[in-house]
Amino acid sequence: THQWRGIIEEYRDRLPVSDTTPVVTLREGGTPLVPAQVLSERTGCEVHLKVEGANPTGSFKDRGMTMAISKAKEEGAKAVICASTGNTSASAAAYGVRAGMVSAVLVPQGKIALGKMGQALVHGAKILQVDGNFDDCLTLARALSDNYPVALVNSVNPVRIEGQKTAAFEIVDMLGDAPDIHVLPVGNAGNITAYWKGYKEYAADGVSTRTPRMWGFQASGSAPIVRGEVVKDPSTIATAIRIGNPASWDFALAARDESGGAIDEVTDREILRAYRLLASQEGVFVEPASAASVAGLLKAAEQGKVDPGQKIVCTVTGNGLKDPDWAVAGAPQPVTVPVDAATAAERLGLV
Ligand code: F0G
Repeated sequence: THQWRGIIEEYRDRLPVSDTTPVVTLREGGTPLVPAQVLSERTGCEVHLKVEGANPTGSFKDRGMTMAISKAKEEGAKAVICASTGNTSASAAAYGVRAGMVSAVLVPQGKIALGKMGQALVHGAKILQVDGNFDDCLTLARALSDNYPVALVNSVNPVRIEGQKTAAFEIVDMLGDAPDIHVLPVGNAGNITAYWKGYKEYAADGVSTRTPRMWGFQASGSAPIVRGEVVKDPSTIATAIRIGNPASWDFALAARDESGGAIDEVTDREILRAYRLLASQEGVFVEPASAASVAGLLKAAEQGKVDPGQKIVCTVTGNGLKDPDWAVAGAPQPVTVPVDAATAAERLGLV
């Protein structure tokens, strides 16, 4: 009878909600913090994975969306809109259903994973594929919310950040204090902003004794913060973080600098290597963008930038089932056998 109630009820006193806020929830949050054995061995550290793919729609976006949709409902909105590389739209679509609202989603044409498109479709969102990239979608979403009766639920909406900061609370609640280093993928830079806010709040209130260094990783083809300039035509196989002009750019720089952290890049090859390692050696199936955090940690370790003995948390942001193409690509085709135990045993190498 005691199930996790969702982030608003679990952290109500730390969120901008009141007794009259209608709570729209799918009981998001409360995700597993999984000890990573192979990553710990490779780095000489105590590495944990915060598995955000275990959220109701399969990504961390649900933490922000329960807040954004609840507040939009409180304010009387009948419709919400977002730009998305796929996960925000999947989440907005699902929470929109719970709230009885229309969800409109703008996605870059041909550049979102099939599973995410399927989620928006099955939840009945109004989908427009935009002839442009994510940054163009966000420009359009802002223009629509400025001029028409529709509430913007991208992470430029500050209540999204409020919801997402709860992941940092959960980590401190589990570990008993903040880790030494927190690693995560960076796209539009909302999540690094949110974690940093959460860690700072807990430290300020004495719940933790310290804050971690924040390490963010962008994909090399989409690394505007690393380059220090907007990337006009971002590219990467990690479509979730294919973003050339992050909305929370300045907040990401603040998180990096205030925490004594770093924002670096990882190549698609490094991302795929980490993606396969997580699946085949840790038993955790994530989508490619999520593996950017782990790719970054491995890269830093190889560069000698990771002192042994530290506590490190890597957020893996989304579920591997959303974008299974990369799991199947290059893998051997399964063998077909007749209904015959001897043949099956032989093919399985059991004899
Ligand atoms: N990982 C995944 C799986 C994501 O979907 C995103 C962002 C990120 C990491 C990066 O987080 O933008 O806060 O820095 N996805 C957004 C979307 C852009 O539309 O679903 P960020």
